[in-house]
Amino acid sequence: MKILIAGGAGFIGSHVSKAIERAGHLPVVFDNLSAGHRWAVKWGPLVEGDLMDRASIEAALRAHEIEAVVQLAGSINVGESMQNPGKYFRNNFSISVNLLEAMDAVGVKRIVFSSTAAVYGIPTKSPIPEDAEKAPINAYGEAKYFVERLLDWYTKSRQFQCLALRYFNAAGADPDGEIGEMHSPETHLIPLVIYGSMGTRPPVKVFGTDYPTEDGTAVRDYIHVADLARAHAMGVEYLARGGVSTAVNLGSGDGISVMQVLKAVETVSGKPVPHELFERRAGDPPHLVAQKGMAEAVLGWKPERSDILSIVKDAWAWSEKALREGLYSE
Ligand SMILES: NC(=O)c1ccc[n+]([C@@H]2O[C@H](COP(=O)([O-])OP(=O)(O)OC[C@H]3O[C@@H](n4cnc5c(N)ncnc54)[C@H](O)[C@@H]3O)[C@@H](O)[C@H]2O)c1
Repeated sequence: MKILIAGGAGFIGSHVSKAIERAGHLPVVFDNLSAGHRWAVKWGPLVEGDLMDRASIEAALRAHEIEAVVQLAGSINVGESMQNPGKYFRNNFSISVNLLEAMDAVGVKRIVFSSTAAVYGIPTKSPIPEDAEKAPINAYGEAKYFVERLLDWYTKSRQFQCLALRYFNAAGADPDGEIGEMHSPETHLIPLVIYGSMGTRPPVKVFGTDYPTEDGTAVRDYIHVADLARAHAMGVEYLARGGVSTAVNLGSGDGISVMQVLKAVETVSGKPVPHELFERRAGDPPHLVAQKGMAEAVLGWKPERSDILSIVKDAWAWSEKALREGLYSE
């Protein structure tokens, strides 16, 4: 299949492109490079375009005879979404409206969408099943949930096949070292800890040491980006087989505390991680872990590399390479 990867120059999208190519399909990246990188597009052509512009999406769908779409493009900074909600509804929700309208006009009706655990807000139970209440507590999560609702309407009224993948914490890097995470600004814990440990960034800030968790720090579910990427290739194939529209969690099912992440980085680097302790941050749930069986039942997908040590080892190797090759940007 020829598959449009919207946001394919970004962290997860570049790994998805590689997985799609490995599965025997052609990834055509559509990205405005606002946060993505030209060096991360290696497995198919790059169409430089903005999802704000419906005509350019339609042109790309036609020119490349696209059969399915993976939609990863959007703005990703949860904190910023609380300062500037309009940006998040525009550059997550509105762009997805444009994309679905363009797909409909061209007759492409299969889409895999990057959703998020943020649709659940502060869950009342953990691990979190897919049918848990959706109660986002930030504009980022709400805009993503709006897209999920939109996908439901395109399924009902326009005969689309839609798969929403609710990622937990994406982390790690390509095990072959070809690509990896490079956000600017970086807000994700693992690169912050690694670059802090390498001395490239200040000591990492640990927010909250009195949560009701084993060591008092917040617990999250880290999923290796190569595992995530594979799920997209399997997702597109699921839709091509006639799979019904649905939404599934993509997580490892393992809860890892902030202190356990620091320990894993210490194991890999062989030295203590410089860090500072702070009060809890408003809006951070104590414990966010996926109930993971549904992705296996629907897609046949299981995480294979998502233990914390493998994630940190791959991320560490990538960070060294990014520094060596001048790809690192703060
Ligand atoms: N990183 C995580 O842990 C995580 C967790 C849950 C969900 N997600 C979702 O996964 C997706 C990918 O995340 P990422 O970490 O790879 O982010 P990223 O910023 O690295 O990638 C997003 C890509 O989209 C592109 N883009 C943004 N707006 C665009 C537009 N209007 N038109 C065309 N291209 C545009 C950017 O240039 C970038 O290449 C996002 O939708 C994000 O919300 C990420």
